[in-house]
Amino acid sequence: MSKVAVVTGGTRGIGAAISSALHAADYKVAATYHGNDKAAEDFTVKTGVPHFRFDVGDFNACKKGLHKIEEKFGSVDILVNNAGLTQDAFLHKMTVEQWRQVMHTNLDSVFNMSRLVIEGMRERGFGRIINISSINGQSGQMGQSNYSAAKAALLGFTKALALESASRGITVNAIAPGYIDTEMVRAVPPDVLDKIIARIPVKRLGKPDEIARMVLFLASDEAGFTTGATFTINGGQYLV
Ligand code: CAA
Repeated sequence: MSKVAVVTGGTRGIGAAISSALHAADYKVAATYHGNDKAAEDFTVKTGVPHFRFDVGDFNACKKGLHKIEEKFGSVDILVNNAGLTQDAFLHKMTVEQWRQVMHTNLDSVFNMSRLVIEGMRERGFGRIINISSINGQSGQMGQSNYSAAKAALLGFTKALALESASRGITVNAIAPGYIDTEMVRAVPPDVLDKIIARIPVKRLGKPDEIARMVLFLASDEAGFTTGATFTINGGQYLV
């Protein structure tokens, strides 16, 4: 029987590539999103992957959203915590709202979604949780004290939950993508983005599929000995 995978922020950018790759590999995939209805509808028409709209930063909204997903597909076997946004500003200009919004969507979401699926995974003795962090959680980045903090926090969360879950057949891993060719990265001012690309040894942005491939491996039954790890995929930009 096909396993059930949930990809948060799964209708655009890296998330869309992950949802599509899991769907092509015969998983039953639910892609969540929050803001962009048009993109979600277009994604579903193109791929056949259904979308579910809820705010992953809101625990009760996650509870209701997951209930709908489980009604359609059954229990969640694979959770990809991918949803994220940026609110870039140097700290001396950052508002409380910019700080909170990034924590809400990029970090609270990971607690909310993982908390809601972990008990079922423990009962069934199988689970895969894959957290999409960022190069900027490893290296830090100017203008991203909020985003870097949230993405670094995911790495600690990943390790702690991996230790708690290892004996129950559940693996928990993180991927730290570098600069991938998505709307989020294209929103960086062009002069700043040029400076960043110049510092990538591979001399190009990454492709969303290059992240999705690692997710496919981590989601597989064969990856049962891989847990608590961070996979860096950044074209050599930051060597950990
Ligand atoms: N790398 C190198 N230099 C940077 C930089 C960066 N990431 N961010 C800012 N700078 C430099 C600017 O080029 C500028 O340099 P000069 O004074 O020499 O011209 C200086 O810092 C000040 O920047 P701004 O003039 O742009 O200042 P601002 O207050 O108007 O805006 C900012 C600041 C909002 C942070 C803007 O510079 C910005 O958006 N920077 C991009 C930050 C970034 O890299 N975000 C990553 C988004 S993609 C992502 O997060 C996905 C992922 O996981 C990798």
